[in-house]
Amino acid sequence: MAAALVPRRPWKDRRVVLGVTGGIAAYKSVQIARDLTRLGAIVDVALTRAAQKFVAPLSFEGVTGRPALTHLFSAEGAALHIRLGREADVVCVAPAGADFIARAAQGRADDLICTTLLATRAPVLVCPAMNDRMFAHAQVQANLRHLSEELCYQVVGPAEGALAVGEGQGPGRMLEPWQIEEAVGRALTGMTALSGTRVLVTAGPTREAIDAVRYVGNRSSGRMGYALAAAAWRRGADVTLVSGPSPLEVPFGVEVVRVETAREMDDVVAARIEEADVTVFAAAVADYRPSEPKERKMKRRDVGDDLTLSLVENPDIALGTLSSRKAGSVCVGFALETDDLESNALAKLEGKKFDLLVANDATEDGAGFEVDTNRVTLFHASGEREPMPLMSKDDVAEEILDRVSVLRGDIGDGSTSDGAAR
Ligand code: C5P
Repeated sequence: MAAALVPRRPWKDRRVVLGVTGGIAAYKSVQIARDLTRLGAIVDVALTRAAQKFVAPLSFEGVTGRPALTHLFSAEGAALHIRLGREADVVCVAPAGADFIARAAQGRADDLICTTLLATRAPVLVCPAMNDRMFAHAQVQANLRHLSEELCYQVVGPAEGALAVGEGQGPGRMLEPWQIEEAVGRALTGMTALSGTRVLVTAGPTREAIDAVRYVGNRSSGRMGYALAAAAWRRGADVTLVSGPSPLEVPFGVEVVRVETAREMDDVVAARIEEADVTVFAAAVADYRPSEPKERKMKRRDVGDDLTLSLVENPDIALGTLSSRKAGSVCVGFALETDDLESNALAKLEGKKFDLLVANDATEDGAGFEVDTNRVTLFHASGEREPMPLMSKDDVAEEILDRVSVLRGDIGDGSTSDGAAR
């Protein structure tokens, strides 16, 4: 799922025109309108006549608090589409049915959504949704190619999966609302210092086997690393998330490599770090692993009263991959401490040659594992020390990436709180 739905970057105070065309997936667009509004966007919903057969304009008004737009010629006169197009920061059509796609590809101006498309210079997202045989039709494919190649619209989806009752399973299903909301977020962010860069993020705990069913682990949820991966993708990066076991949904657009142990994580990072422009070591890697994991489940009657585990050191991934880092790349580390935050943080910053170290005190309320918030202090290699207030992990991720962008030589880019540069 998308992370917490509270007003935040990049959606906050941005204008989204959500076009809804005829199709059974239109019921999911109410959720999109609601979520985007909760994320702080100003959402104008425009419905085609066919869309209104599936879902009522009033549903959208209820979740956006704004009039739902159904007519090209309204009280506002013929200028409505011009205003919508001019004010929009992004136009997203979801669901985009076959008829809409054909009309948009022809540049028709016979309804409010198509005319708004002609009147806007904002990025346009088209989220197809239709029967799989219709989607596979050469004419639909040609229309979509035209939209993406000639008009530079972004075609987002469709997914494969259950279609309307009695239909197939092939490609044609609209993406889930949270995925479309993330794609809107990336379009709203526009060009940034991270656009086109490769970002590698480690996240979550590792598990080190004791026997066939037991392991040594820790309480990391992966939330901080997942939030960083999602935020980096929205800023236009190609993101790989190397994740230990975590129940979290993989952020939209992000490649995930799942691992279990520290040594598996080390292998993946070692193979990929040479290519990475930015690496963030957010994983809580087990420092030690049982030296002789048992292949079968240990039995109490065999072990007796005392069980002593002998542990051996795991590789330090950040330290071990130091020499393979790409020249000019930026590396960010984390330190979760319970004692002597500052001296431990500085020792890790120096020892592992991070450009930035994000430190937090696990004993503080609202910071550390298994919570959605964090209070961190940023230690820069330059010597600067920045204590931050308590904030959501999503906001911490944005702050970290702002610093990473500056380290990559970007001065005051558009991805800061007041919106995007395009
Ligand atoms: O565990 P420690 O506090 O030393 O972690 C500091 C940083 O080093 C973190 O960014 C963590 O992801 C990374 N680390 C690692 N491999 C380890 C231990 C820590 O990459 N074995």
